[in-house]
Amino acid sequence: MATPQIKYRKDYRAPAFQVDRIDLTFDIHEPLVTVRSRLVMRRNGGSSANLVLDGSAVLKAVVLDGERLAEPRYALDLEAETLTIDDVPDGFILEIETEIDAAANTSLMGLYASGGNLFTQCEPEGFRKITYYLDRPDSMSKFTTTLIADKQAYPVLLSNGNKVGEGMLDKKRHWVKWVDPYKKPAYLFALVAGRLSALRDRFTTAGGRDVKLEVWTEASDQDKVAHAMASLKRAMKWDEERFGLEYDLDTYMIVAVGDFNMGAMENKGLNIFNTKYVLARQDTATDFDFEAVEGVIGHEYFHNWTGNRVTCRDWFQLSLKEGLTVFRDQEFTADMTSRAVKRVEDVQSLRAMQFPEDAGPTAHPIRPDSYIEMNNFYTMTVYEKGAEVVRMYQTLLGRDGFRKGMDLYFRRHDGQAVTCDDFRNAMADANGVDLTQFGLWYSQAGTPLLSVSGEYDAVAQRYTLAVKQSCPATPDQSEKQPFHIPFAVGLVGADGDDLPLTLDGETVPGPTTRVLDVTLAEQRFVFTGVATQPVPSLLRDYSAPVRLDFAWHDEELAFLMAGDSDPFARWEAGQTLARRVLVARVADDAANRPWQGVGVLTDCFAAVLADHAIDPAFKALMLSLPHEAELLELLDAVDPARLTRVRERLLSELAQTLRGAWHETFDLNRGHEYRPQDAGRRSLKNLALSMLARLPDDWPLDAAREQFEEANNMTDQVGALEAVKHRDSEVRTDCLVDFAERWGEEPLVMDKYFALIATSRLTCTLDHVKAAMEHPAFSIKNPNKARALIGGFTRNLAVFHAEDGSGYVFVADRVLEIDAFNPQVASRLVQAFNRWKKLEPGRRALMRSQLERILTAPGLSRDVYEIVSKNLAEPA
Ligand code: TRP
Ligand code: ZN
Repeated sequence: MATPQIKYRKDYRAPAFQVDRIDLTFDIHEPLVTVRSRLVMRRNGGSSANLVLDGSAVLKAVVLDGERLAEPRYALDLEAETLTIDDVPDGFILEIETEIDAAANTSLMGLYASGGNLFTQCEPEGFRKITYYLDRPDSMSKFTTTLIADKQAYPVLLSNGNKVGEGMLDKKRHWVKWVDPYKKPAYLFALVAGRLSALRDRFTTAGGRDVKLEVWTEASDQDKVAHAMASLKRAMKWDEERFGLEYDLDTYMIVAVGDFNMGAMENKGLNIFNTKYVLARQDTATDFDFEAVEGVIGHEYFHNWTGNRVTCRDWFQLSLKEGLTVFRDQEFTADMTSRAVKRVEDVQSLRAMQFPEDAGPTAHPIRPDSYIEMNNFYTMTVYEKGAEVVRMYQTLLGRDGFRKGMDLYFRRHDGQAVTCDDFRNAMADANGVDLTQFGLWYSQAGTPLLSVSGEYDAVAQRYTLAVKQSCPATPDQSEKQPFHIPFAVGLVGADGDDLPLTLDGETVPGPTTRVLDVTLAEQRFVFTGVATQPVPSLLRDYSAPVRLDFAWHDEELAFLMAGDSDPFARWEAGQTLARRVLVARVADDAANRPWQGVGVLTDCFAAVLADHAIDPAFKALMLSLPHEAELLELLDAVDPARLTRVRERLLSELAQTLRGAWHETFDLNRGHEYRPQDAGRRSLKNLALSMLARLPDDWPLDAAREQFEEANNMTDQVGALEAVKHRDSEVRTDCLVDFAERWGEEPLVMDKYFALIATSRLTCTLDHVKAAMEHPAFSIKNPNKARALIGGFTRNLAVFHAEDGSGYVFVADRVLEIDAFNPQVASRLVQAFNRWKKLEPGRRALMRSQLERILTAPGLSRDVYEIVSKNLAEPA
């Protein structure tokens, strides 16, 4: 492979040509699809450049202003994937014919087949696999699409926009024509062709537009789409109420497909979804799945404004649409479910998945400066940290100020392709504030650390918070400038009530939560009129994506955990206590010392368990320990087996010491009638069952078996299996066999089966995973299956990191196997090696040798090359 080209943000140039309209015809005749494209094009003012189009499809014909061209009148560069035509006039019509073998397309980008139907995926650069075009998001055009196919095999023919005509071509073949009235970049193009069924409904917008809603799936899945449709209507209503944004076409279509590289895609008027985020029925989907379906449906719907009406100038600006749209879907879910629970869940996944990215070899700012393969930049950083950055605007400006900024953003940029700076400027201008320093969140990678100390002066009745900020070096940047950090704080009095926060120099008592503007490397904030020593409650609602260091006494954390008025800070107090015990014990174990005690944590857990005023879903979060992946970031030269052992032992101690309370919680939250709104109780009950299954007794296993057999919903089935999956027992074997037999025909349920196998801590798990690859329901070609089984295995710390390196060899083999047909999936998988430098020397060496083996493998994709070369570029 020639060393792949790096693309830089600073090299952005506006396009030299403009496509005024594009008319596409897809002639589907198996096994090939012929694509005819007619482009009405114009040279942009002043440019004298040659015409360079992106493309890699098989080229059949090029016609310029009616004249068929032959080489060398045009030049194809297969390496660069371009078609160049010199000396084109200022305005011209270009007709291009390409041919695609959709069934042979295993990358699932461009036009591909799944289950006998045809689908497209064009973001970010898939359109060039379909035809030759200006495949960049700032090149926007009006699309018309005509689909022609055999009516028997492909009765349903869909594309973006409104259906304007259909008919028969001959006895067998029919056609359908679609017009999208909105200019759009090629990445938002989509088509679907095949045998599908729809659930139909309607929605009337606030402005009175009557919109047809359709959710398309295979006929046999139509009994699982009601929740998706209900979620869509809730999302449409929510965006009107919260942001004043209405839908703008007559039809909104969602299509589910079983083979899909990611979650879903916001193509204009024709969203294409992974079945995982559409199909949900009580007996096949967990409560968590139901919430995820609603969240992703919301996400793609919200993109219609944040992504489609206003799109990105270039792919470096991806967080412009993704960070903003994730923020919007988080707020939607918070409003539909529990705000406190959603906030904690989002922080948990940020810490477990984004923090490692920000500290590792692929660290990048939410607006990257360079990339080799754009597909590698659909990351936790761009999405989730990007959402945190958007949330910080709202924290700084208030909900109303944020809304003003959004309104100005749409007023200025509707119909345009813009940058992250344009968004920041709209926020600043609408509120008359200076957000220059805030811009550093877009250009600096790494997770900042806030080191805070507090001092109480009883005589002066003053409380001082001294705040220092720093940010670790990342591979791209060694020195960082101070960020503008919104730091939400409270001071809790001895009676548990929040004190009014009055800053030195103010004359009236302030509110009980204040957002401090931290802008310097070191800063002090002095509160006056503080009558007694308070306990500070810091980073309330997780007001910034940072780490926090403050030397609370354990008793102070117990106090906050018992009753902080801010739910995030309350949960976080317990997490901080748990982190302390775990980190200390890892050190004890490494030094061959006796482990330190559990301290106040047991009493805190006992108090939470006994507190019936706490929402059960939130209670389950308060009773969960930090994830292994989060803990790994706090340690150095990690022995993953030791980390797992320490964490598991703490869980078992908490199970043993509080066994009565867990038992009571389990009994109290069992219910026979299934009601969706009892999701929190199910989650708490299943946590209790998992804890009880740690006791050296048999009865919890029997209870799990009973729950498994009598469950009338998937949450309880999986809950029972989660509880027993680590116990080498008859119950485990029986239930898993039964589960696989019962659900063999339901691919999404089988994903759960494969994930359960892969995430068991049994020492023979690797053998089980290898055996599962031979299961008739498994296919490594299907991304959901690969992610469940092999991805699941990489998250199983103790087993993936087996001391003999067998886990590493297995995963490296799968990376190479998958890379040959789907680089995007392989590139995700190989990132399981990203933290190799965090490990103790033995594992570090073993991981490194697998990375080196991958890098030298012939025919490696750009995707995997970029990740592995960054892993090995770091000084060891
Ligand atoms: N834009 C999509 C979203 O976040 C995700 C996406 C990007 C995607 N590239 C993709 C989905 C490739 C599937 C395949 O909503
Ligand atoms: Zn998105």
